[in-house]
Amino acid sequence: MTAVQPVPVRDRSAFAPAGLDLGCDYNPEQWPRETWLDDVRLMREAGITLVAVNIFGWARLQPRPDVFDFSELDEIVALLAANGIAINLGTGTSSPPPWLTRRHPEILPVVADGTTRWPGGRQAWCPSSPVFRRYALALTAAVGERYGENPAIRIWHVSNELGCHNALCYCDVSAAAFRRWLEARYGTIEALNRAWGTAFWSQHYSEWDDILPPRLTLSTTNPTQSLDFARFSSDEVLAHYRAEADLLRSLSSAPVTTNFMVTAHIRTQDYFAWAPHVDVVANDHYLDHRLDRPHEELAFAADLTRGIAGGRPWMLMEQSTGAVNWQPRNLAKAPGEMLRNTASHLARGADSICFFQWRASAQGSEKFHSAMLPHAGTDSTTWREVLELNRILRAVGEVAGSTVVAEVAIVFGWEAWWACDLDSRPSTDIRYLDQVHRVYRALWASGITVDIVAPGSDLGDYRVVIVPCLYLVSDADAASIAGAAESGAHVVITFFSGIVDEDDSVRLGGYPGAFRDLLGLRTEEFFPLPDGLSVSLDDGATAARWTEKTEVFDAQTVASYVDGPLDGSPAITRREVGDGVSWYLGTDLDVPSLRRFLDGVLSEAGVLPAGDDGERGGDGLEIVRRRSSDSDYLFCINHTDEEHSVPCSGIELTTGASVDGRMPVPAGAVRILRSARPPDPAPSDPARA
Ligand code: GAL
Repeated sequence: MTAVQPVPVRDRSAFAPAGLDLGCDYNPEQWPRETWLDDVRLMREAGITLVAVNIFGWARLQPRPDVFDFSELDEIVALLAANGIAINLGTGTSSPPPWLTRRHPEILPVVADGTTRWPGGRQAWCPSSPVFRRYALALTAAVGERYGENPAIRIWHVSNELGCHNALCYCDVSAAAFRRWLEARYGTIEALNRAWGTAFWSQHYSEWDDILPPRLTLSTTNPTQSLDFARFSSDEVLAHYRAEADLLRSLSSAPVTTNFMVTAHIRTQDYFAWAPHVDVVANDHYLDHRLDRPHEELAFAADLTRGIAGGRPWMLMEQSTGAVNWQPRNLAKAPGEMLRNTASHLARGADSICFFQWRASAQGSEKFHSAMLPHAGTDSTTWREVLELNRILRAVGEVAGSTVVAEVAIVFGWEAWWACDLDSRPSTDIRYLDQVHRVYRALWASGITVDIVAPGSDLGDYRVVIVPCLYLVSDADAASIAGAAESGAHVVITFFSGIVDEDDSVRLGGYPGAFRDLLGLRTEEFFPLPDGLSVSLDDGATAARWTEKTEVFDAQTVASYVDGPLDGSPAITRREVGDGVSWYLGTDLDVPSLRRFLDGVLSEAGVLPAGDDGERGGDGLEIVRRRSSDSDYLFCINHTDEEHSVPCSGIELTTGASVDGRMPVPAGAVRILRSARPPDPAPSDPARA
């Protein structure tokens, strides 16, 4: 074996971000030292600037309770530093070593039916366990003390995808923590009884000690108990992150973050609440082939990540070059698809593009997961695409730091998601994320860039604000949405929004209680549709799954049903409000009808397309604009099999070509055009009025 000699690290400035990072997770502990040298040589060839190590390092760093062994990590850190590669250093706490779970089985997570989940996979720990916390902080302290001021460390990576497998723990320790959390939220047991509506089914509590997490029951569980448990569980995982992050901040001046999972299938963490606690927002994203057109979901996740980051640039901490290993059918990416995926993340605000992982594992349950360096080695399409990606990232590095231009917002909230998807709702066909995705897809198909913002955000800059299925909303957040219409926005509320308050308690007097006055209407009863039945509207639209019996008292009916159980009743309404307009969509339009409806709203609101000369993309041509203080960057991503041509002028950065009038975007290709930033419109400009 070749021993790798530690070398002194370079000056801190050598690791300052310049342009766009290209990075990866690196698991050298899975390989002999000879391979490390090969890895670092190839990393340099591929232009890797940032490497995440020690993500699952605990069992090697602390082989026994009283033994720390940093020799291997020291070598890796020194090797990367000597090669000018900055480090994204894991605290290594994401998966406890086997000795810890043997000595302290009480840290193991318990699922809703009360059974324990064993070690042997990863993340087998209870987020509320003080014992786990003590050991995890001891490791964090040891890592932080050793590398805290090492200039090779660009950023800290706390644990890994916190809450991925273990967010919801139902053990007795979690139950006690849940009771403490409830006591802090409600103060008195009577306040809890009121909030949870425990007059129902003999659920009234006399003692805090009687309260349990929503463990598996014979019938449906109290919904507010389940909602509070979702809130509690997000807070508990965040508290664990904060404990590690605070410790690191006391030992190191490097920024601290962790990788979020803003994707379709994970919903346990309220990342809007997490955002203030990370120094830069970082997300992991994988195409989910269980969905139709997963690249549209990618765009949604990227826009939501930017929303969590408050519009600032963010890091893509993980994506894949090709297939993953955890879907039923793990599809490879088509030629050029990884570049298109990357361009979409970049277009939507990512300034670092990192992959899981550098070298494909030969062992373990992820051995059939793709990597930058596949099992086939460098003589592979994947490797050639990695080199091409590096070339493109270098060519477009100047986009780093620019921000995304959007005039449309979707209001999105985790609490509404958790509450909407609980049991015993009017129809199991109505799922929160599906509803948000439908709106997003209609806008994506029309080529509209969208900001995705938390309830209660400042909506003042948007021409159109869409509120899909915001089932749970607070009074203050409902007022901020109404305020956006008053001050000039077109606000679109879709069905099953504004139904309950923060306690999941129905707002009485007719639906949608929180938005009745804003919309000038009142729904008396929901009429969900049987599976397979669709209804028609008199404007030619078709809808399914949901209708409702609505009476309009101060709004104009835009479209009514012409068949179905509510033949003749209003389905879409419009009301002038202050300087703006409120729209209500009381049914679940199919995506083409939804797109037509939203296109009408957008054009009335004067939404400007992303491209020049009225070009807004759409139908598979993704066009997004980023803007710096002096330049505009037009990202054009062609997801179709046909060449498109986009009207614009400037310099195309991936080819260096100068464009005068029209830019061809070949089938499957990505083009990124720099042009001079247009002057900001004067406040009196009618285009902004
Ligand atoms: C992420 C995780 C990585 C790896 C990857 C595979 O969830 O952070 O460690 O497992 O998925 O897609």
